[in-house]
Amino acid sequence: MNIPALIELDIDSSIWERFFSVFPLVVIGTREADGSPDLAPKHLAMPMSWSNHFGFVCTPSHNTYQNIERTQQFTVTYIRPSQTLLASLAATPRCDDGSKPITRSLPTFAAQKVDALFISEGYLFLECELQQMVDNLGENSLIIGRIVGAKVAADALRSSDQDDADLVLGAPLLAYLYPGRFAEITSSTQLPFPAGFKR
Ligand SMILES: Cc1cc2nc3c(=O)[nH]c(=O)nc-3n(C[C@H](O)[C@H](O)[C@H](O)COP(=O)(O)O)c2cc1C
Repeated sequence: MNIPALIELDIDSSIWERFFSVFPLVVIGTREADGSPDLAPKHLAMPMSWSNHFGFVCTPSHNTYQNIERTQQFTVTYIRPSQTLLASLAATPRCDDGSKPITRSLPTFAAQKVDALFISEGYLFLECELQQMVDNLGENSLIIGRIVGAKVAADALRSSDQDDADLVLGAPLLAYLYPGRFAEITSSTQLPFPAGFKR
Protein backbone atom coordinates (compact mmCIF):
# COMPACT_ATOMS: atom_id res chain seq x y z
CA MET A 1 0.00 0.00 0.00
CA ASN A 2 1.28 3.47 -0.91
CA ILE A 3 1.68 5.83 2.04
CA PRO A 4 1.00 9.45 0.97
CA ALA A 5 3.73 12.01 1.60
CA LEU A 6 3.06 13.47 5.07
CA ILE A 7 3.91 17.04 6.07
CA GLU A 8 4.70 17.73 9.75
CA LEU A 9 2.62 20.69 10.97
CA ASP A 10 3.89 23.33 13.38
CA ILE A 11 1.84 22.82 16.57
CA ASP A 12 3.17 26.02 18.13
CA SER A 13 0.52 27.81 16.05
CA SER A 14 -3.02 26.86 15.02
CA ILE A 15 -2.97 23.95 12.57
CA TRP A 16 -6.56 24.38 11.30
CA GLU A 17 -5.78 26.93 8.58
CA ARG A 18 -3.32 24.57 6.87
CA PHE A 19 -5.99 22.30 5.35
CA PHE A 20 -9.76 22.17 4.89
CA SER A 21 -12.14 20.42 7.25
CA VAL A 22 -15.93 20.18 7.36
CA PHE A 23 -18.12 22.00 9.90
CA PRO A 24 -21.73 23.12 10.18
CA LEU A 25 -22.49 26.83 10.28
CA VAL A 26 -24.98 27.99 12.90
CA VAL A 27 -26.08 31.40 14.13
CA ILE A 28 -26.26 31.90 17.91
CA GLY A 29 -28.94 34.30 19.16
CA THR A 30 -28.63 36.10 22.51
CA ARG A 31 -29.95 39.23 24.27
CA GLU A 32 -27.60 42.16 24.91
CA ALA A 33 -27.45 43.99 28.27
CA ASP A 34 -29.31 46.97 26.71
CA GLY A 35 -32.15 44.68 25.55
CA SER A 36 -31.22 44.59 21.86
CA PRO A 37 -30.89 41.23 20.09
CA ASP A 38 -27.51 39.77 19.14
CA LEU A 39 -26.74 37.20 16.43
CA ALA A 40 -23.31 35.70 15.67
CA PRO A 41 -22.14 32.84 13.39
CA LYS A 42 -20.27 29.86 14.86
CA HIS A 43 -18.81 26.83 13.09
CA LEU A 44 -17.22 25.06 16.10
CA ALA A 45 -20.63 23.74 17.07
CA MET A 46 -22.28 20.33 17.54
CA PRO A 47 -24.41 18.11 19.80
CA MET A 48 -22.66 17.45 23.13
CA SER A 49 -24.40 14.23 24.08
CA TRP A 50 -26.68 11.48 22.78
CA SER A 51 -29.49 13.27 24.56
CA ASN A 52 -30.35 16.90 23.99
CA HIS A 53 -27.27 18.98 24.68
CA PHE A 54 -25.72 21.43 22.24
CA GLY A 55 -22.32 23.08 22.51
CA PHE A 56 -20.19 25.60 20.66
CA VAL A 57 -16.82 27.24 21.03
CA CYS A 58 -16.84 30.97 21.74
CA THR A 59 -14.39 33.64 22.80
CA PRO A 60 -15.06 35.32 26.18
CA SER A 61 -14.41 38.74 24.59
CA HIS A 62 -17.44 38.26 22.28
CA ASN A 63 -20.76 39.70 23.42
CA THR A 64 -22.31 36.28 22.70
CA TYR A 65 -20.31 34.77 25.59
CA GLN A 66 -21.04 37.67 27.94
CA ASN A 67 -24.74 37.69 27.05
CA ILE A 68 -25.05 33.96 27.80
CA GLU A 69 -23.11 34.30 31.05
CA ARG A 70 -25.61 37.01 32.10
CA THR A 71 -28.93 35.60 30.73
CA GLN A 72 -28.08 31.87 30.93
CA GLN A 73 -29.78 31.18 27.60
CA PHE A 74 -29.32 31.25 23.81
CA THR A 75 -30.82 30.12 20.50
CA VAL A 76 -29.25 28.16 17.65
CA THR A 77 -30.29 28.44 13.98
CA TYR A 78 -28.87 25.87 11.57
CA ILE A 79 -28.80 27.81 8.31
CA ARG A 80 -29.24 26.63 4.74
CA PRO A 81 -26.67 26.97 1.91
CA SER A 82 -28.62 29.95 0.54
CA GLN A 83 -28.05 31.85 3.83
CA THR A 84 -24.25 32.10 4.03
CA LEU A 85 -24.36 35.86 3.39
CA LEU A 86 -26.73 36.35 6.34
CA ALA A 87 -24.43 34.35 8.61
CA SER A 88 -21.43 36.37 7.46
CA LEU A 89 -23.24 39.68 8.01
CA ALA A 90 -23.93 38.60 11.59
CA ALA A 91 -20.14 38.75 12.11
CA THR A 92 -19.98 42.43 11.09
CA PRO A 93 -17.62 44.21 13.51
CA ARG A 94 -19.23 46.33 16.22
CA CYS A 95 -19.41 50.14 15.96
CA ASP A 96 -17.17 52.27 18.19
CA ASP A 97 -20.02 52.59 20.73
CA GLY A 98 -20.18 48.78 20.99
CA SER A 99 -23.48 48.43 19.11
CA LYS A 100 -24.11 46.00 16.22
CA PRO A 101 -26.92 47.57 14.15
CA ILE A 102 -26.70 44.93 11.38
CA THR A 103 -28.53 42.54 13.72
CA ARG A 104 -31.74 44.53 13.27
CA SER A 105 -31.53 44.21 9.46
CA LEU A 106 -31.36 40.41 9.41
CA PRO A 107 -34.61 38.44 8.87
CA THR A 108 -35.53 36.98 12.26
CA PHE A 109 -38.32 35.63 14.42
CA ALA A 110 -38.55 35.27 18.19
CA ALA A 111 -37.91 32.07 20.13
CA GLN A 112 -40.67 30.98 22.52
CA LYS A 113 -38.91 29.54 25.56
CA VAL A 114 -35.83 31.76 25.69
CA ASP A 115 -35.49 35.51 25.13
CA ALA A 116 -33.58 35.62 21.83
CA LEU A 117 -34.08 35.52 18.04
CA PHE A 118 -33.71 32.93 15.28
CA ILE A 119 -32.69 33.57 11.65
CA SER A 120 -35.77 33.14 9.44
CA GLU A 121 -35.71 30.33 6.88
CA GLY A 122 -33.04 28.24 8.59
CA TYR A 123 -33.93 24.55 8.89
CA LEU A 124 -33.31 23.70 12.57
CA PHE A 125 -34.10 25.95 15.53
CA LEU A 126 -32.91 25.14 19.08
CA GLU A 127 -33.68 26.98 22.32
CA CYS A 128 -31.06 26.35 25.00
CA GLU A 129 -30.51 27.04 28.68
CA LEU A 130 -26.89 27.27 29.80
CA GLN A 131 -25.63 24.11 31.48
CA GLN A 132 -21.88 24.68 31.60
CA MET A 133 -19.05 26.89 30.41
CA VAL A 134 -15.60 25.36 30.04
CA ASP A 135 -13.02 28.16 30.01
CA ASN A 136 -9.29 28.29 29.29
CA LEU A 137 -9.24 26.38 26.00
CA GLY A 138 -6.52 28.64 24.63
CA GLU A 139 -8.33 31.93 24.03
CA ASN A 140 -11.68 30.13 23.74
CA SER A 141 -14.37 28.58 25.89
CA LEU A 142 -16.89 25.80 25.30
CA ILE A 143 -20.49 26.79 25.99
CA ILE A 144 -22.86 23.86 26.60
CA GLY A 145 -26.62 24.27 26.66
CA ARG A 146 -29.51 22.00 27.52
CA ILE A 147 -32.05 22.06 24.68
CA VAL A 148 -35.42 23.18 26.06
CA GLY A 149 -37.16 23.67 22.70
CA ALA A 150 -36.54 22.40 19.17
CA LYS A 151 -38.25 22.94 15.82
CA VAL A 152 -37.30 21.60 12.38
CA ALA A 153 -38.58 22.92 9.03
CA ALA A 154 -41.14 20.55 7.50
CA ASP A 155 -39.01 20.04 4.36
CA ALA A 156 -36.03 18.90 6.51
CA LEU A 157 -37.89 16.42 8.75
CA ARG A 158 -36.98 12.74 8.18
CA SER A 159 -39.95 10.48 7.62
CA SER A 160 -40.59 6.84 6.78
CA ASP A 161 -42.52 8.05 3.70
CA GLN A 162 -39.48 9.66 2.08
CA ASP A 163 -36.12 8.31 1.07
CA ASP A 164 -33.31 10.05 3.05
CA ALA A 165 -31.37 10.78 -0.18
CA ASP A 166 -34.42 12.55 -1.64
CA LEU A 167 -34.78 14.57 1.59
CA VAL A 168 -31.20 15.89 1.32
CA LEU A 169 -31.72 16.60 -2.39
CA GLY A 170 -34.89 18.59 -1.66
CA ALA A 171 -33.53 20.43 1.40
CA PRO A 172 -29.75 20.75 0.75
CA LEU A 173 -27.35 20.97 3.71
CA LEU A 174 -24.59 23.51 4.23
CA ALA A 175 -21.02 22.38 4.85
CA TYR A 176 -18.63 25.11 5.98
CA LEU A 177 -15.17 24.20 4.77
CA TYR A 178 -13.00 26.06 7.26
CA PRO A 179 -11.21 28.42 6.73
CA GLY A 180 -13.44 30.17 4.24
CA ARG A 181 -15.24 28.02 1.66
CA PHE A 182 -18.60 26.34 1.72
CA ALA A 183 -20.40 23.56 -0.15
CA GLU A 184 -24.04 22.81 -0.80
CA ILE A 185 -24.72 19.14 -0.15
CA THR A 186 -27.45 17.70 -2.34
CA SER A 187 -26.05 14.23 -2.94
CA SER A 188 -25.57 11.69 -0.13
CA THR A 189 -25.09 7.94 0.26
CA GLN A 190 -25.96 5.50 3.05
CA LEU A 191 -22.97 4.84 5.34
CA PRO A 192 -22.00 1.13 5.36
CA PHE A 193 -22.42 0.20 9.05
CA PRO A 194 -21.01 -3.16 10.23
CA ALA A 195 -23.51 -6.02 10.66
CA GLY A 196 -25.03 -5.95 14.16
CA PHE A 197 -23.82 -2.40 14.83
CA LYS A 198 -25.34 -0.72 17.89
CA ARG A 199 -24.24 2.70 19.15
C1 LIG B 1 -18.09 31.88 9.10
C2 LIG B 1 -17.74 32.29 10.52
C3 LIG B 1 -17.59 31.34 11.52
C4 LIG B 1 -17.27 31.72 12.84
N1 LIG B 1 -17.15 30.75 13.80
C5 LIG B 1 -16.84 31.12 15.07
C6 LIG B 1 -16.74 30.13 16.10
O1 LIG B 1 -16.93 28.94 15.87
N2 LIG B 1 -16.43 30.56 17.37
C7 LIG B 1 -16.21 31.90 17.66
O2 LIG B 1 -15.95 32.25 18.82
N3 LIG B 1 -16.32 32.85 16.70
C8 LIG B 1 -16.64 32.48 15.42
N4 LIG B 1 -16.77 33.44 14.45
C9 LIG B 1 -16.55 34.86 14.81
C10 LIG B 1 -17.70 35.50 15.60
O3 LIG B 1 -18.91 34.86 15.62
C11 LIG B 1 -17.84 36.96 15.31
O4 LIG B 1 -16.62 37.61 15.48
C12 LIG B 1 -18.99 37.67 15.96
O5 LIG B 1 -19.12 38.86 15.26
C13 LIG B 1 -18.93 37.98 17.44
O6 LIG B 1 -20.09 38.75 17.72
P1 LIG B 1 -20.62 39.10 19.17
O7 LIG B 1 -19.66 40.08 19.78
O8 LIG B 1 -21.94 39.68 18.87
O9 LIG B 1 -20.66 37.84 19.94
C14 LIG B 1 -17.09 33.08 13.14
C15 LIG B 1 -17.23 34.06 12.12
C16 LIG B 1 -17.55 33.66 10.83
C17 LIG B 1 -17.70 34.72 9.76
